[in-house]
Amino acid sequence: MAGKENKVLWISQEEAMEIGAGDLNWVMNNVIRANKMLGRGETIEIPLFHMMWQEGKHAGKRIGLHACILNSDEENVHVAGVKEIPSNPTNPRKLGKPRSNGLVELFDEETGYPLAVVDDTLVSGIRTGCGSGLGAKCFAREDSEVMGLVGSGVIAGYCMQATLMFMKHIKKIKVYDIRRENAEKFCERWKHLGYEFSVVDSAEEAIRDSDIVHTVTTVDVGEEYVEPAWLKKGSFHSFVSQYDYKEECHLLPNVKFGMDWLDRLNDRDSCTLANMVLDGKMAKPTYPLVTQVSDVLLGNKPGRTNPDDIYLFATIGIVITDVLNCYEVYKGCLEKGLGTEVYQWKEPHNM
Ligand SMILES: NC(=O)c1ccc[n+]([C@@H]2O[C@H](COP(=O)([O-])OP(=O)(O)OC[C@H]3O[C@@H](n4cnc5c(N)ncnc54)[C@H](O)[C@@H]3O)[C@@H](O)[C@H]2O)c1
Repeated sequence: MAGKENKVLWISQEEAMEIGAGDLNWVMNNVIRANKMLGRGETIEIPLFHMMWQEGKHAGKRIGLHACILNSDEENVHVAGVKEIPSNPTNPRKLGKPRSNGLVELFDEETGYPLAVVDDTLVSGIRTGCGSGLGAKCFAREDSEVMGLVGSGVIAGYCMQATLMFMKHIKKIKVYDIRRENAEKFCERWKHLGYEFSVVDSAEEAIRDSDIVHTVTTVDVGEEYVEPAWLKKGSFHSFVSQYDYKEECHLLPNVKFGMDWLDRLNDRDSCTLANMVLDGKMAKPTYPLVTQVSDVLLGNKPGRTNPDDIYLFATIGIVITDVLNCYEVYKGCLEKGLGTEVYQWKEPHNM
């Protein structure tokens, strides 16, 4: 029957980029908006779920499943989204292709019908860097001069760029990768930025004496290697790859925590911090021991208050940031006539 068809807009990475998805500033703006929505209680997000092809191998082949609702009168955004992000760490080496790829499906608030399927591969990577950079903005010392990166893949690049958006005194960037050639390529790629880049020989060298550290490796639960003695007084550490810091680091007397979403403390294996809380190895932290980014962005709570505190930052990625970015991509594509319409059905069966 005419008029009952349902079409969905398929949006490729190239089309998403035409709207702004490859631009760090564009994505960051949406990441900040999404965080503020979270802080105002305008979002619903389900707990992290990783399906693993091999039981217990979190950093192996897996599919991350995420879903959320954005329901913001203030921003006039009312949309739901589901994200799937499969990952295989051998893809870059074996295929020269990304470790992970993401798709976001957007759903209409009123009917629940799908509006669009958007490539989220790029957005997911950039929004991760933006999340880590925002952590630095809130919890790193403003006078930070040295950045250390452990792991020098795709996400490390975005973490570095997003951090540099806010931290204006950085001079030196130390890079360690178990594949030295990756660290060398990384430094070569970014040397035009004018910072003093150096490839270092160990994770310890990258972390010791660094004011800001992003660990962006592919280590698994149980492979934690960062020692408490490596952490500089007053430093900021974003554990993007979740399982790099040994438990003892979390128990240092001068440690405070930042998180993009406190609910992650309930998610088993979302990070070492969450596992320690769930295993009763530490009490569930509350403010001022832990601060959520959105509270700082909304001006409800301060970020760093003591120059000597060491901040450990857990950013496990919040799908509201993907979905808001993909929704903006979708709206942009409608305006510009981009994307490919495909049928979900031409005529719903049995109606
Ligand atoms: N927290 C989040 O929201 C979020 C989002 C996306 C990705 N991630 C995580 O970020 C990590 C990196 O992702 P990517 O896409 O950049 O991967 P990638 O494969 O492009 O790069 C990873 C790099 O880390 C290096 N490496 C692996 N183990 C190492 C170790 N022990 N020490 C030093 N270097 C090591 C590899 O050689 C490689 O160069 C993954 O663990 C991924 O799960 C987190």
